[in-house]
Amino acid sequence: MDSFQALVARQDGDRITASVETLGPSDLPPGDVTIRVLFSSVNYKDALALTPKGGVVRDYPIVPGIDLTGEVVESQSPEFSVGDQVLAHGYQIGTGHHGGYAEYARLPADQVVALGALSPHEGAAIGTAGFTAAMSVQALIDWGITPDAGPVVVTGASGGVGSVSVDLLAAAGYQVVASSGKQSAAGMLKDLGAAEVIGRLPADPDAKPRPLAKARWAGAVDCVGGATLADVLSTVDYGGAVAASGLTGGPALHTTVMPFILRGVSLLGMDSVLMAIARRRELWALLGNSLKPRHLDAVSNDVDVKDVVGVLDQLRAGSYSGRAVVRVAGGF
Ligand SMILES: NC(=O)c1ccc[n+]([C@@H]2O[C@H](COP(=O)([O-])OP(=O)(O)OC[C@H]3O[C@@H](n4cnc5c(N)ncnc54)[C@H](OP(=O)(O)O)[C@@H]3O)[C@@H](O)[C@H]2O)c1
Repeated sequence: MDSFQALVARQDGDRITASVETLGPSDLPPGDVTIRVLFSSVNYKDALALTPKGGVVRDYPIVPGIDLTGEVVESQSPEFSVGDQVLAHGYQIGTGHHGGYAEYARLPADQVVALGALSPHEGAAIGTAGFTAAMSVQALIDWGITPDAGPVVVTGASGGVGSVSVDLLAAAGYQVVASSGKQSAAGMLKDLGAAEVIGRLPADPDAKPRPLAKARWAGAVDCVGGATLADVLSTVDYGGAVAASGLTGGPALHTTVMPFILRGVSLLGMDSVLMAIARRRELWALLGNSLKPRHLDAVSNDVDVKDVVGVLDQLRAGSYSGRAVVRVAGGF
């Protein structure tokens, strides 16, 4: 590997630009596993990486792409051999050092996960968003929310975290209510197993928020944050829980203690970035087997890495549905 192609994001005054550049091995960060990247995916954080003041990238220039799947081509670690199929995400891949939108990546072995039963394409279709969906669903299950407890709402349902959450919850027997701003996504969400599709929450964004409103949900998977999370918290039933992972609706949370102290509602924080590697590998093993999303093909679309900026723009605008799998090998 003398040189390779990469999509590089650079800061230019107040603008962030992204273009295909030729890099060499010395451009890769230190690490004991070098991976020929086959696929990456598109996550909201990748859109933020190309947004001025997006707040996720430490220093430019950087190769974005917060997750990747591929094949080991060099390894100084006894854990991985040349030819192993692997994936990686979290730990500031694509935000603190070069990520998946390049033909090669280099990482510490303790950030690498064996793909196991998943193909590289399936691993990327799940990606960071699907992994976060699995974390969220597993958190509700571990909390003791059973399918007979009542409906579970998923916000941002047409997006990456949302769509995979709908799929996983429906497969586990939950009555899923999908909350989405896209009428066009209703068919897809029903196909994934949603019992009902409703609009974004709160239903009336201009109404004065109430600390407690009529209890509707046994639990919730929320990747939107902001006023949506506040609304969900105020409508979760006694003893329910909300697995919260995101901020597409804004980072501020204006709520009261009432849901917590009068209904025993719990707010469960989801962080896929710093999760310990042992737990990460366990959850990926489940994603390849008992927890494997049933409708990966229906929620994912392929895009060549050279065309990924257009998809990132759609994600930033909240207009993209499902998961975009980024073809890196052969995609420049
Ligand atoms: N904590 C973690 O470890 C972790 C991991 C992965 C992702 N995340 C976060 O989770 C969030 C979702 O990530 P993603 O990759 O799934 O993004 P995504 O594919 O863009 O999905 C986000 C969805 O949120 C909804 N949305 C967008 N703008 C909105 C707005 N202004 N108000 C209300 N809803 C809006 C849209 O769904 P509808 O049109 O269907 O309403 C959109 O499809 C992001 O904030 C991301 O940073 C966190």
